[in-house]
Amino acid sequence: MKKIVILISGRGSNMQAIVEAAAKQQWPAQIAAVISNRADAGGLEYAASRGIPTAVVVSKQFATRDVFDAALQAKIDEFAPDLVVLAGFMRILTAGFVEHYAGRMLNIHPSLLPSFVGLATHQQAIDAGVKVHGVTVHFVTAELDHGPIVAQAVVPVLDDDNEDTLSHRVLEQEHQIYPRAVLQFVEGKLRIDGNRVHISN
Ligand code: GRF
Repeated sequence: MKKIVILISGRGSNMQAIVEAAAKQQWPAQIAAVISNRADAGGLEYAASRGIPTAVVVSKQFATRDVFDAALQAKIDEFAPDLVVLAGFMRILTAGFVEHYAGRMLNIHPSLLPSFVGLATHQQAIDAGVKVHGVTVHFVTAELDHGPIVAQAVVPVLDDDNEDTLSHRVLEQEHQIYPRAVLQFVEGKLRIDGNRVHISN
């Protein structure tokens, strides 16, 4: 059984999609813990209701990024994960933290990377006038919202879209591609080759 630790900051709908897929499809994996940097993250309740251990490491209580990341790393490593999954985890990570989980930490970013890094990606897409938008699952590297891409899904941008309608359309795709990518990792199907990820059948 591979062990997975999922990090969240909010509602945790991607975490929920992964937990449900793992149970339904009987993955050879265990969600070892869900950890949040905010005590009020809605997803914590769901995780607890599924019997998954939860923990909170409150980022606001730490003076610097370095000490927070060290505390978070210590908490994560209590569960000895094979994979760390960032699912709406709204923190910029230090290089040392990222290095510690090199090749075993995935993130989901709601844009077609390398377009629209950072926040408010749906508004960025609308403002740029792009006709398609989407979502990316990638391995985490020290550079924000970069790293070898595992999966992407594309949605149309419609003339009357606003941030809400567009983010809703993207989120539906997030819930499809993130569980699939995590399962591929669990099954040992992902091989990082520079910037590229080769996926075996
Ligand atoms: C998702 O859109 C994710 O891509 C982004 O933040 C949002 C988190 O949603 N990084 P949820 O907490 O998984 O519901």
